[in-house]
Amino acid sequence: MPSFKVRDLDIAVTFRDVVLLPGYTSVEPREVDLATKVTKRRELSVPIVSSPMDTVTEAEMAIAMARLGGLGVLHRNCTVDEQVEMARTVKRAESFIIRDVVTLTPDQTVGDALKIMEAKSISGLPVVDSEGRLVGIITRRDVAFAEDLSAKVAEVMTKKVITVGEDITVEEAKRIMRKHKIEKLPVVDEKGFLKGLITMKDLVSRERFPNASRDEQGRLLVAAAISPFDLERAKRLDRWMDILVMDVAHFHNENCISAAAKLLKEVSAEVIVGNIGTYRAAEDVITKLEGVAGLRVGIASGSICITGEVTGVAAPTLFAVMEVARALHDYGADIPIIADGGIRSSGDAAKALAAGASAVMCGFLLAGCKEAPGAPVVVGGKMYKYYRGMGSPAARAKRFAKDRYQQPAKEIAEGVEGLVPYRGEVATVLRELIAGLQASFGYVGARSIRELWEKARFALITPIGRQEIGGHDIIPMERTP
Ligand code: XMP
Repeated sequence: MPSFKVRDLDIAVTFRDVVLLPGYTSVEPREVDLATKVTKRRELSVPIVSSPMDTVTEAEMAIAMARLGGLGVLHRNCTVDEQVEMARTVKRAESFIIRDVVTLTPDQTVGDALKIMEAKSISGLPVVDSEGRLVGIITRRDVAFAEDLSAKVAEVMTKKVITVGEDITVEEAKRIMRKHKIEKLPVVDEKGFLKGLITMKDLVSRERFPNASRDEQGRLLVAAAISPFDLERAKRLDRWMDILVMDVAHFHNENCISAAAKLLKEVSAEVIVGNIGTYRAAEDVITKLEGVAGLRVGIASGSICITGEVTGVAAPTLFAVMEVARALHDYGADIPIIADGGIRSSGDAAKALAAGASAVMCGFLLAGCKEAPGAPVVVGGKMYKYYRGMGSPAARAKRFAKDRYQQPAKEIAEGVEGLVPYRGEVATVLRELIAGLQASFGYVGARSIRELWEKARFALITPIGRQEIGGHDIIPMERTP
């Protein structure tokens, strides 16, 4: 018999159903610290994560997000090799000592050197002998005017190379590079074997992005999406990734949970699990899975999502966060929640954090940025970028062609595609989101996300009230997105 429980229906509130109430405050927005934990171990200075979608996060977005203190999650709508290459690009983007150094051998040609420099966008290559001992260095300057591309690297390389040992400090490296006016500083062991490379570009970037999210080696932090059923992909990525993020629409599923249990034992990266949307789902994840580092929460709120329409099923992000936060509280589990889907403004992000999230995941807000994949398009004199759901027909078509592990689990599309306004650089968008969040915390009287959890109070708002708290009754001028 069907269950008729209309009397004790849950109320699945969404962002625009509620407001945060102002509280007694002594907090100025600029005093607000948005530092957070995105997993049990990893901290971010900005609680914003970019969605693993093929129109949102590839290497360029992940690099930008990490530099600005957030985190990018690389999408998986590509081959394993392509996803690993994106991860390597982010990890190579900067570090104190680059370990994954691209090198040449003396018998390669100037043409080879130029090709590698071009393909990998690097300007200097250490030259090593067949055993890995450093014998020289070649920079763009050495090859830029070369007339004979078939000349051997050995003929044009600088042989007297200034090197340092592995115990070098950042300050000392800077001093040496300035003194000798060099931009690359190879790191060698006592026998002369190449152990790494320090570049001026990376040292400058450290100063330029002091709040960047970095790993222990000073490389940018990055995450990648995986399926619980694709152990091979997870293992291949594990070597490069700090965080792996489960990428399933409905993780509260027996098969997903048992596959994830196996996967969690096989990888060393921290694993964020999701998406989930209810108290029961959180309860099952906490009690059935060991080693979960974060929870991705919210079902069917995404701007490109039609799951709710197609299936009638949804756990809107705000409601889902409240449910999961309650379960974590009841079980005394300290696992960060990432609120995923439906966030259109800093106000929505503030509500998600106030409900118990540690960070928000954004697709819509970031898809219009320069760093998202794809070029802007001009329609009617305005600039837009293409944005699509990962369950849209177009995204599904690509996935099935490329990845044999991702079988069509469902016969129906649960996502749509369209255009979003072009928003320029992600730095500008994040700056606005941060300023909006800080102002919101100021109204509530919270200096940090933890304080927000304690102090925030929500009130339901009627549709008429919602109209009133937006701009109203005037003919609006064009607003920059
Ligand atoms: P926003 O609102 O930021 O949401 O655009 C992004 C999130 O939406 C999810 N996502 C989808 N959900 N069908 C869905 O039901 C889809 O095709 C789809 N694509 C992405 C995902 O959680 C993402 O972070």
